[in-house]
Amino acid sequence: MAKKHSLIFQTILTVLLCSMVTPSQAEDTRKAIWLSAVEREVLLIEMRNFLRGSQEVLENSVKEDMALVNRTAKPLGTKMLKNLPKEMTDKMPPGFYAMLKTLHYGFAEIADISKSPKAESKVVLQKLANMQKLCVGCHATYQLKVK
Ligand code: HEC
Repeated sequence: MAKKHSLIFQTILTVLLCSMVTPSQAEDTRKAIWLSAVEREVLLIEMRNFLRGSQEVLENSVKEDMALVNRTAKPLGTKMLKNLPKEMTDKMPPGFYAMLKTLHYGFAEIADISKSPKAESKVVLQKLANMQKLCVGCHATYQLKVK
């Protein structure tokens, strides 16, 4: 039994060590999206809003305060997407824009679901968990560069 545990421990240790990156190996190989400095800032502000929005949707869903979930999710819906200048969205690869759009539609859907006071918080939480796969997927694929 002790031997089995030690084997499991060794396996976990190996996996942990293999996934660690030293600074000298760290190279950003994600696809670059070239934006102006202002456009990059606009997108990063949007990102910080996403982070704040998902934290608040999570916290208010756990508290089952659907009115607050609605108030948080609404501004992150499709209107925000439509406010992005065309000149800027033209610079985004189709895959990137599709993920961004899906995320905004996700917040719009959460706003819609939470309109009803009878809405189940579990439905919102599941939706948010699925949407966060877009955060993870997009961050793993793209980086922003200024030119
Ligand atoms: C369509 C792609 C995409 C999606 C979807 C996306 N992000 Fe991002 N996000 C980016 C990119 C690209 C950057 C810049 C990364 C870089 O250049 O290193 C970024 C940066 C950020 C930053 C850093 C902001 C700063 O001030 O530097 C935060 C925080 C962030 N994202 C949060 C989120 C959260 C939370 C979600 C999901 C709810 C999300 N993002 C979804 C593409 C995306």
